[in-house]
Amino acid sequence: MKKISDSRRQFLGVAATIPFWIPRSIKGYTSKQMQSFNLDGKIVDDISKWDLDTPALCVELDALERNLEHLQQTVSRNGIDSRPHAKTHKCPAIARLQMETGSIGICTAKVSEAEVMFEHGIDQILITTPNVTPVKIKRAMHLSKWCSGLIQATDSLTNARDLSAAAAAAGVVADVVVDVDPGGHRTGISPGEPALILGQEVDRLPGLNLLGILCYDGGSQHVKGFEKRRTQTLERLAAASDTILTFQRSGLNTEIFSGGGTGTYNIDHETSHFTDVQVGSYLFMDAQYRAIGGSSDPEVYTDFEPSLTILTTVVNDQYQGRATTDAGAKACTINKPWSIVKGETGMNYRSGSDEFGTITYDNPSRTYRVGDKLELIVSHCDPVVNLYDQMYAIRNDRVEAIWKIEARGMSN
Ligand SMILES: Cc1ncc(COP(=O)(O)O)c(C=O)c1O
Repeated sequence: MKKISDSRRQFLGVAATIPFWIPRSIKGYTSKQMQSFNLDGKIVDDISKWDLDTPALCVELDALERNLEHLQQTVSRNGIDSRPHAKTHKCPAIARLQMETGSIGICTAKVSEAEVMFEHGIDQILITTPNVTPVKIKRAMHLSKWCSGLIQATDSLTNARDLSAAAAAAGVVADVVVDVDPGGHRTGISPGEPALILGQEVDRLPGLNLLGILCYDGGSQHVKGFEKRRTQTLERLAAASDTILTFQRSGLNTEIFSGGGTGTYNIDHETSHFTDVQVGSYLFMDAQYRAIGGSSDPEVYTDFEPSLTILTTVVNDQYQGRATTDAGAKACTINKPWSIVKGETGMNYRSGSDEFGTITYDNPSRTYRVGDKLELIVSHCDPVVNLYDQMYAIRNDRVEAIWKIEARGMSN
């Protein structure tokens, strides 16, 4: 036993000196080693992203900033606000950027994400998923005590009464929106009469303060072709729009009509009374969204630029027509369409194997040798981000900062 712990100590001692072992020609700073260059989130040395050990999650700052700017300019021009969904990035540093560039708040999917965001200074938070269990309701009410900008969603009379009782027990009056179903039947109460009755009940309950409605139409976000997407979105939001009108006529508060996402950010404002869009993926883009087409290009959605990539290394080049990399399902997920090799043509990427990715060539713009690094545009950004503890913020190929994905794994 003693022998084992001695050798472990020796190993750890040696491991601590690894930066000095790495010959400059091989390079490969692990995430731990990168921390030694990290001062208050900024990197104090001149390190190329190509020197990072792989797989590594990278975000291109220039592209990210252009995405933030394009979103904010568009929604402002259209007379609505942005309330971006932090379930995409799970990263307080990015939430702060969104607030600094004009967003009125952020959304989270889970109460645990909201807690992390609040701990890191974000205090305008809409939890878009109704909390239905006593433990989650209690946590949300506790958070509401400290975070005055917390808004919760509810979609049933029973749940509203539970929320009100928990709010009273916690000594708060909780801000609430009624979650209205656009037709996907995922969450939300039916629009019209059922939603109105719920709105009136929320308005009456002593522990709750009604702010309006939320209606997220997930089924329209990835509809291919701008006009088709626009037609479906406007059709499916019409009932929610009528509902908010009935709220208004009944004297209920209608200051919030929140919904929409990256696929409909430039459509949702056409629905009357709509106030703010809950965009998530627009920051990073991904292969799924690239494929939906936009108003200027029917095949590729170019409104936002892919800013998020996975850096990977080729580990085998011995076989004709293919190469193997170190980024498989655990680095990329197995979402489809598969990741895309950035900047190259004539090759396909697959990440179906746990530890390995496969490149297959089909008249490729280049081929790879063992040790070569390449970048992948991610398949679906949200679940990919949730695989990493940190992302590297890159400008002109240099690592500018390390951003902790503080809400990684916060799925409850
Ligand atoms: C409630 C809610 N709002 C907004 C979004 C929008 O996300 P995105 O812009 O990535 O499509 C989602 C995504 O699933 C969601 O669940």
